[in-house]
Amino acid sequence: MSAAKVTAGKTGTTETNPKSPTSSRVVIFDTTLRDGEQSPGASMNLEEKIKIAQLLEEMGVDVIEAGFPIASNGDFEAVREIANRITTASVCGLSRAGRADIDRCWEAVQHAKRPRIHTFISTSPLHMKFKLQMTPEQVHQAVIDSVTHARNLCPDVEWSCEDGSRTEHDFLCRTVESAIKAGARTINIPDTVGYAVPEEFAALIRMLFNRVPNIDQAIVSVHCHNDLGLAVANSLAAVGAGARQIECTVNGLGERAGNAAMEEIVMALRTRHDRMPFTTGIKSEYITRASRLVSAITGFVVQPNKAIVGTNAFAHESGIHQDGMLKHAGTYEIMTPESVGLGKSTLVMGKHSGRHAFKMKLKELGFDVGDNALNESFRRFKDLADRKKEIYDEDIIALIDDEIQRGSERIKFVSLQVIAGSRGPQSAELELEIDGVHCSAKTTGNGPVDATFNALKAMVPHEAKLLLYQVSAVTQGTDAQAEVTVRLEENGKTVNGQGADPDTLVASARAYIHALNKLLTKRAKTAPAAMSA
Ligand code: KIV
Ligand code: ZN
Repeated sequence: MSAAKVTAGKTGTTETNPKSPTSSRVVIFDTTLRDGEQSPGASMNLEEKIKIAQLLEEMGVDVIEAGFPIASNGDFEAVREIANRITTASVCGLSRAGRADIDRCWEAVQHAKRPRIHTFISTSPLHMKFKLQMTPEQVHQAVIDSVTHARNLCPDVEWSCEDGSRTEHDFLCRTVESAIKAGARTINIPDTVGYAVPEEFAALIRMLFNRVPNIDQAIVSVHCHNDLGLAVANSLAAVGAGARQIECTVNGLGERAGNAAMEEIVMALRTRHDRMPFTTGIKSEYITRASRLVSAITGFVVQPNKAIVGTNAFAHESGIHQDGMLKHAGTYEIMTPESVGLGKSTLVMGKHSGRHAFKMKLKELGFDVGDNALNESFRRFKDLADRKKEIYDEDIIALIDDEIQRGSERIKFVSLQVIAGSRGPQSAELELEIDGVHCSAKTTGNGPVDATFNALKAMVPHEAKLLLYQVSAVTQGTDAQAEVTVRLEENGKTVNGQGADPDTLVASARAYIHALNKLLTKRAKTAPAAMSA
């Protein structure tokens, strides 16, 4: 596989021309804010989306897919705001093949420094027949019409064949060729249902390079879902076959089992450059920070053994491994923690640690918080240090995550007083601030958690069903902070909320409030029927 450099491409975001399969540069297209947000429960508000987009740009993402503008007014606003603020990355919006979708998408991205319209339609027999109820001829015409229309509005158009990996080859070649002829400059081949296996998916990409006569006029991209746990392997295999854009998400967030995880793609290419001689523009030291920000905002906890960003990814538990590590880090470590932005120091903080040390600790952990959040987190850190002898990194991460989630919430926690124990009835007195107005309620319940949630319901009436209530300890010991996850469902929409505090009931209240705030954001969204991507 050659890695020869060629001259700069039209996107202007790369040093080499990724259109060419001989280029070594792989474009990183991040869809955390679009496909990632489609994970049940992973909704984000405008401010949160902007925060993530800014970090993605800072870490070197080439293309940020900011949302699906026609899906709701909230999505439209988010894409437009991100388009207005991002300066170096391309900002992309998704749209189906209809003119109204494409027009709305263009309206949202048109002021970006580098706008992109990403339009798609299904091409597999199953999708065309049952989902679209269109003939292949009609779909082919829709490809030409949609790309032509998008290209009349925007110089940078990406076209995707949804369910591409299950599309008949002749039809796939025909639609790809027509999309390029109509002006698409990126052709994305999704493995929408995560069905492909690496060898097969690589062969599909090679087949396109062999059979589509104008394929050299576009970058071939891949978008792999993780239903069989093969999204990253399929994406890397496709790059080996000539693809030069990978669509991925932070922490592998996305529909169902998620998308290819950006951190895994980037670190695999970096660590195994000997076998995969390709580069990305990603500053890998930002990976931990991005992972934590996305996890904190969405409430999706990263599994401890998750590659690259799990809390155990660089931990060595067994004596044999620890001994080996002390003798030579290379014995059990194929990449350094620093390369993904994990600090080396294990400085444990306590009640005497000052504001400066706290700020330095946050920096080392990959957090960059504004002054207000810093003041509030420092106050909470001091409070925690009064109640807990030693503060570990995990405590600070939980505290900051909790603070990030609170930023722009309409319902804010003020205080909680609970009567628990075996004599009953258990009761809770909860104080909140709702849209700036102070209120309180005192209720009983079947246990202190139930009483607390009843108090919330009394102040914020709702019909949401509690699907999950989960408590875990952030560290060891009886004074450990509790981290609570609450999942609510209302009218088919699910949201996750998280809260952390040394008091399990306070953490529970915070988690429920977090989920309720997300539900309020969701209620404001009105998605059109049969929206699918
Ligand atoms: O999974 C998929 O096919 C998609 C497309 C819209 C790119 O998300
Ligand atoms: Zn997808």
